Amino acid sequence: MDLRIKSFKEYEEKYKQSIEDPDHFWDQIAQTFQWQQAYKEVCKWNFDEPNVKWFLEGKLNITENALDRHLATRGNKTALIWEANDPNTPSQKFTYRELYERVCEFSNALKAQGIEKGDRIVLYMPMVPELAIACLASARIGAVHSVVFAGFSANAMADRINDAQAKMVITADGLNRGAKQVALKTVVDEALESCHSVEKVVVFNCLDWKVNMEEGRDVWWHDATNGMPAECKAEVMDSEDILFILYTSGSTGKPKGVVHTHGGYMVYTAFSFQNVFQYEEEDIYWCTADIGWITGHSYIVYGPLLSGATTMMFEGVPTFPDAGRFWQVCDKHQVNQFYTAPTAIRALMACGDEHVDATSLSSLKVIGTVGEPINEEAWDWYYEKVGKGNCPIVDTWWQTETGGIMISGLGSLSPMKASYAGYPLPGVQAVLLDQEGKEIEGSDIEGYLAIKNPWPSIIRTTYGDHERCRTTYFSHYKGYYFTGDGAKRDENGMFRVIGRVDDVINVSGHRFGTAEIEDAIDNHENVVESAVVGYPHEIKGQGIYAYVVCEIEPTDPDAARAEIIDIVSEQIGKIAKPEKIQFVSGLPKTRSGKIMRRILRKVAEGEPDKLGDTSTLLDPSVVDDIVQNAL
Ligand code: WTA
Repeated sequence: MDLRIKSFKEYEEKYKQSIEDPDHFWDQIAQTFQWQQAYKEVCKWNFDEPNVKWFLEGKLNITENALDRHLATRGNKTALIWEANDPNTPSQKFTYRELYERVCEFSNALKAQGIEKGDRIVLYMPMVPELAIACLASARIGAVHSVVFAGFSANAMADRINDAQAKMVITADGLNRGAKQVALKTVVDEALESCHSVEKVVVFNCLDWKVNMEEGRDVWWHDATNGMPAECKAEVMDSEDILFILYTSGSTGKPKGVVHTHGGYMVYTAFSFQNVFQYEEEDIYWCTADIGWITGHSYIVYGPLLSGATTMMFEGVPTFPDAGRFWQVCDKHQVNQFYTAPTAIRALMACGDEHVDATSLSSLKVIGTVGEPINEEAWDWYYEKVGKGNCPIVDTWWQTETGGIMISGLGSLSPMKASYAGYPLPGVQAVLLDQEGKEIEGSDIEGYLAIKNPWPSIIRTTYGDHERCRTTYFSHYKGYYFTGDGAKRDENGMFRVIGRVDDVINVSGHRFGTAEIEDAIDNHENVVESAVVGYPHEIKGQGIYAYVVCEIEPTDPDAARAEIIDIVSEQIGKIAKPEKIQFVSGLPKTRSGKIMRRILRKVAEGEPDKLGDTSTLLDPSVVDDIVQNAL
C-alpha cells in the first residue's frame, strides 16, 4: 500500500514509464487497492466527446479502501483529529475503528431515512467530524454527496440542490467561525422554499440552538443515528459510478457540477497524497482547507484515509483567537505535513512575525500551498519563518476538475524554485499551447496550460449537462483538456502557473465567474448592466472590481454600493462581494456589443496608460469617464 516514490531519479523513471505505458503504470498502483471484482481494462478514452473511463467493470467501494482494509493493521491508529474553533474546547480523536463504526452507523441512518444508491445528498455543514463522516457514509451506501461550502447563500444552495435534484440535505443548527457564529439551518429553510426534490433534512447539533424543525422532514442527527448498528455492508459500486458532485464556477452562467467517480478518484488521490506530501506511517498531516472545496475532499478526507494516514480537521480560522493559531495547533498536535493557501500565508505574514516566532514548528517536515499562485515574498516568508529554512514547500497546482494534484514537488525529492509549482506528477502530460492550439516546444516559454492525456481522477462530466463539459474543457483545443490557466515553463522544464486566462476570478483561492457576479448585481432594480473583473489584491490574490451602469445616477453612491453588496451576498454569498464598485455612464463595447474587458482590467489594475487600441469601440468616450473616476 506504500505508493511512495523515494528519489528524484525514481520519479524521472516512473514519469517516463507512466507516459510510455500508462495502462501498465496505473494498473500496478490500482492493484494495491481492494476490489470486489477485478477491472477488465485500465483505461478507455477519447477527448472528443469526451468519454473517459478508468478501471472498467471493476467493482469496489471507496470506503472499504479508506476504512475497512485498515482495520486489521491500523484499527487503533488515529484516523482523524479534530481541532475546534475555540482553543479551550478539547480536540477529538477517532481511531480507524471508531471512524469506521461512526460511518457505518450514519450509513444505516441514511438508509433508514430513505436514501438509496444513486440519490444525491447536499451537505451544508460546519467543519466538524460529522461532515467527513457524512461524506463517507454517503459513499458507503452508493449515494452521491455534494458539499456546498457553508458560506454560500440560500439562493446559491438552492441552485445547487435543484441542479442535483437532491433528496436530502445534511446541515447543522449553526457553526463557529472565529468569533462569529453563523446560523445554517435558517439558510437551509430559506433555500428549501424553492427546492422540491428534498424529502429529508438531517440536522447536526453543533451549537445547542433551538431551531425550526419541520415535522416529517427534519430530523436531528443524534435521533437519526440512535440505535443504529455499527456495521453496514458497503454497496457494490462500479468504478465509474458517481462518488460526488462538486459545484464550481466557470466563465459562463451558473456554477457547474463537476462529477468524480469511485475508482479513478480513489487511485489518484491516494497516489498523489502519498507522493506529494511524502507521508510516512507515523506522520500527522494537516490540511487547513474547508471540505466545501475540492482540496478538503481530496486531501482531508479521501487521499489521507485511503492511505491509512492521520488527518486533521480544523473548525476555525487562521486568526482566531490570534494570528498564531495555525502555528500553535501545529505544535499542539506535532504536525508533520502542513497544507494551506497563499492567501492565508499572506494574511498571517501581514500580522507580523511575533506569532510564528513564538512557536517551535520543529515537527514540520513538508509544507504545502494550493489554490492560487504564490508570490515570491510569501513563498520566502513561508519557507524561512514557518519551514525554518529546512522544509520543502510543495506548491501544488490542480483544480476541482482534475480531482487531484497535477503539478507539484514531491516532498524534498524535487528541486524547488520560489513561485514555481515544478514538475507534473507521473501520468500527467502537461503542455503549453499557443493561440492556435499548437504545442510550444523548448524552454523559457509561456502559453495556455493543457493536458494531453487522461489521468484517473479527471472530470467525467458536468452533472446533467455533458455538452457543457465538452465545450468548457475539450473544445478549445482539439485533443487536449484545457485548464483555463496560463503558465510558463523554465529552462529546466519546471512550470509556473500564472493565473486564469478566462473570465474566472480567484479570490482567496475561491473561484467565481464574472458572469455569475454580474447576474447578481444586475438584479438591483436601478442597475442597467455591469461588468466585473479581477484586480491584484495584496492578501486575497485577486479582488473583485465591478463597473456598474445605473438607470438613475445614485444620489448616495455609498448607499447604492451597500445595496449591491447585499444583493451579491444574498445571491451568492459574502465571499463573492465586490471590493470596489464604480458607477459608470457606459461600458466599453465593440461595435458588435462585446464588452472589452481588457480595458476594464487595465483600469482596475491601475494601469490606465496601457489600455491599448480603443478605436474599435462603439463609444470611446466612455473610457475617459471610467479612467477619470477609477477607484
Ligand atoms: C488556481 C483548487 C497557481 C488555478 C485546487 C486553477 C493555482 C484554480 C494553484 C483551480 C497553484 C490552484 N498555483 N494557481 N499552486 N492551485 N490554482 O478548482 O487558477 O478551486 O485553475 O481548485 O486555482 O481552483 P479550484
